[in-house]
Amino acid sequence: MNKIIFVGGKGGVGKTTYSCALALKKSKKNKVLLVSTDPAHSIGDAFQVNIGKDIYTYSENLFFIEVDGEHESNKYIEKIENQCKSILSPIIMDEIRKQLILAKVSPGTFEAAIFDKMIDIILSPKDFDYIIFDTAPTGHTLKLLAFPELLESWFDSLIKKREKILMLKNMIDNKKTLYAEDEMLTILKNRKYKSKKIKEIFSDKNSLSFNFVLNLDKLSIAETRRALDTLNNLNIYLDKLIINKNIIESKNIYFEERKILEEKELENIKKIFKNETLFFVPLFNLDGLDLLKKITEIL
Ligand SMILES: Nc1ncnc2c1ncn2[C@@H]1O[C@H](COP(=O)(O)OP(=O)(O)OP(=O)(O)O)[C@@H](O)[C@H]1O
Ligand SMILES: [Mg+2]
Repeated sequence: MNKIIFVGGKGGVGKTTYSCALALKKSKKNKVLLVSTDPAHSIGDAFQVNIGKDIYTYSENLFFIEVDGEHESNKYIEKIENQCKSILSPIIMDEIRKQLILAKVSPGTFEAAIFDKMIDIILSPKDFDYIIFDTAPTGHTLKLLAFPELLESWFDSLIKKREKILMLKNMIDNKKTLYAEDEMLTILKNRKYKSKKIKEIFSDKNSLSFNFVLNLDKLSIAETRRALDTLNNLNIYLDKLIINKNIIESKNIYFEERKILEEKELENIKKIFKNETLFFVPLFNLDGLDLLKKITEIL
């Protein structure tokens, strides 16, 4: 099984930088796929390459995908429409089409589409040793991670409803259609199987872990605390917290006051996250590829 690593955190703390550096490091010995699910992609910017729509080969061992939410939403809705078309009557289909047009702009569709793509990537048989996800800021990502829990019970109830309909239909028609021949039931069962599989992967610490990036400030710490509670509730394993951009080791006079403040927050972090593994990344006087290489050296 691939080792799946999610990199999360508040906006701007250094998720992309850290996930790119981690991918670069891991790719020295392993085959790595780095995926961005953040609508505002920046893997390409960090590596200074143009990724495009397909899988991008950066080196023999390192590959990138930037998931295009809008494209995935359209594909997702199209897929649902095609599945419905093969099952439902044209009259009902007209109504469904109207609903699907609305669904395209409804809250949640974008996330559902990104999640669907994420499942495909995770369950695809391509043999990567690591799949690293550079995610969008916390709220957006946690919503995605809660999906498997919701989906499995949702598909369960849809399957029960469909089976009831088939049973009644069989009684009315006085026929014995085999449930296995029903296309909708097959689709629902497939979807349930995938959701179940993903739920298992999400809660297996040997398959999936979460790295959370934060900075030495109160907002970042507060958001991390809330996020760790959510991860805990979702049974998702936290590998470590990365305390990025810290200037404590810096010799620059300009940073003296900021250093005092960060030292106070550092004490705070050590108290609050006493059971978590902490990993410190200094604030470097670098950016772009040079920054990635520097961080790769200390990972
Ligand atoms: N250790 C570091 N030293 C110096 N600069 C850093 C460090 N880590 C990140 N940066 C810089 O901070 C900025 C934000 O980093 P990055 O884009 O990785 O954050 P992010 O969490 O992915 O942001 P977003 O939430 O917008 O996706 C970038 O300009 C990056 O070069
Ligand atoms: Mg980012």
